[in-house]
Amino acid sequence: MSSQTAPKKRVTVNELRRMKGAGERIAVVTAYDSTSARLVDRGGVDVVLVGDSVGMVMQGHESTLPVTLEQMIYHCASVRRGLARSGSRAHLVGDMPFGSYQASTDEAVKNAMRLAAEGGVEAVKLEGGAEYADVIVRIIRAGIPVMGHVGLTPQSVHKLGGYVVQGRDGDAAQKLIQDVHALEAAGCYAVVLECIPAELARLVTGQVGIPTIGIGAGPHTDGQVLVYHDLLGLETEFKPKFVKRFAELGPAVAAGVEAYVAEVKAGTFPAEEHSFHAPSLRLLQVVPQQPAADDDHAVVGAPV
Ligand code: KIV
Repeated sequence: MSSQTAPKKRVTVNELRRMKGAGERIAVVTAYDSTSARLVDRGGVDVVLVGDSVGMVMQGHESTLPVTLEQMIYHCASVRRGLARSGSRAHLVGDMPFGSYQASTDEAVKNAMRLAAEGGVEAVKLEGGAEYADVIVRIIRAGIPVMGHVGLTPQSVHKLGGYVVQGRDGDAAQKLIQDVHALEAAGCYAVVLECIPAELARLVTGQVGIPTIGIGAGPHTDGQVLVYHDLLGLETEFKPKFVKRFAELGPAVAAGVEAYVAEVKAGTFPAEEHSFHAPSLRLLQVVPQQPAADDDHAVVGAPV
């Protein structure tokens, strides 16, 4: 069987734990729509995260706070359909948005269930430490795996006083270590460490059995996550220190659109090969009221 036709082995929570044990690094990328999901899955990512960063990256907000549960379900379902089209090797996680798990445990469970049932995610991620242990236990009891998220937790941007590195002093580092242990004890299968010193991330990663996924947390975590638009250079205005651009798609997109505009203006697009024809319609020049039936049967295109 060729590698193109071999069924892909799905990445599960067990597989992620195995990867940590085996010292295999875990690659995580965000996606928010069907096309990007298909592309990142083809690129071989282990985990696709439908992050609430969608609020900043796609919706243009200054924070993730305005993102709603309905919007997350919409984006998760879009990504799920994209993964289904590509054969779906990747494990799919959806963020619980601000306001969907903080007010009550019952609401948190119901909302996690909606993300799983309507959004098609295999796990949910929520921000916070020991204070969310009871919420996490209840969501897991409902059958939904939970990924934790500590360090810089963007939904608490105002409490944190901005998007600033966390865990830099002894007390804050100690609190973060306790939080990760509490998340593991509550049953989280993995945890995101965002914007913390590399030394702290290394320490935590060595202390817990669950995979740590870093972003701005240095090289010593079990995996890394980046935002799709950042790693592909689609976001050109702003580049945080922890981002590496693996492609420069922003300028490529602008150049493509510029070329299209130029051809439309010059009249060189569409060309002959982009045009449909119906020979009988030549009659229309002399009998304008004749019905034009031929193009009803034209094949316009097929999915690529
Ligand atoms: O919302 C998001 O994209 C995230 C990742 C950056 C970890 O939470």
